[in-house]
Amino acid sequence: MAGVTRDGGASARGRVPLIAGNWKMNLDHLQAIAFVQKLAWSLKDARHDFGAVEVAVFPPFTDLRSVQTLVSADKLPIAYGAQDVSAHAPGAYTGEIAASFLAKLECGYVIIGHSERRTLHGETDDEVAAKTVAAIGAGIVPLVCVGETAEDLERHGASAVPLAQLEAVLESIPKGAEFVVAYEPVWAIGSGQAATPDQAQQVAAALRGAIAQRLGDDAAGGTRILYGGSVKAENIAGFMRQPDIDGALVGGASLDVEGFSAIVRYQKHVGV
Ligand code: PGA
Repeated sequence: MAGVTRDGGASARGRVPLIAGNWKMNLDHLQAIAFVQKLAWSLKDARHDFGAVEVAVFPPFTDLRSVQTLVSADKLPIAYGAQDVSAHAPGAYTGEIAASFLAKLECGYVIIGHSERRTLHGETDDEVAAKTVAAIGAGIVPLVCVGETAEDLERHGASAVPLAQLEAVLESIPKGAEFVVAYEPVWAIGSGQAATPDQAQQVAAALRGAIAQRLGDDAAGGTRILYGGSVKAENIAGFMRQPDIDGALVGGASLDVEGFSAIVRYQKHVGV
């Protein structure tokens, strides 16, 4: 376990690392039950300390009730949440899901402003902010995604766009509310080409600086900032060694139980 001391990561700074699996539009509710059961077994088998590294899954809406039933019946130490939420209270919004509905399903988190929502559904910074407020109002921790496209990177460098996206949300976050930020360079998502740990650290540090400026040092010190974009078991350790990276939002590699479980147990191979 020499790797644990070499981690120097989030837990050393009082932030419990979070490894989050974004399933996107994969796995129906039956597959979700089998997956979460297997994941819990795999991690228990490996004696994973859930208090040291938190694990969360983000299944499609239609899976959430099944996941809730399983997690609560078997008292599984796995958190879960939705991949999106409506900014509105219940009412005439065909096809949308209210934050209060997710709260009833005991969702601990909700992903907001994922780049696929921003690009494919034209989600704006204002909508991301409104959804964040709705989640917080329902007692759900928003996991707010920010990140630059390849074109943004070329034109403005890595930090400018994610910073602007985060600042647009920070204005609406009430003091004292818990939230998580996921820095996901759009060019790294699903491409197999992750950012380098240094690159991700630089942006994460800038994002933390923006939180400090808007909400104070305590909020900045307590807020978890995740990296996302082609994270896998082979590269997670490098990210977790960075002082401002407190976990990962994992897409493709979160769909394989053994692969995801290996990412969660990065402390065992942090020296890799
Ligand atoms: P990826 O996706 O791990 O497949 O790159 C990350 C994400 O979109 O959250």
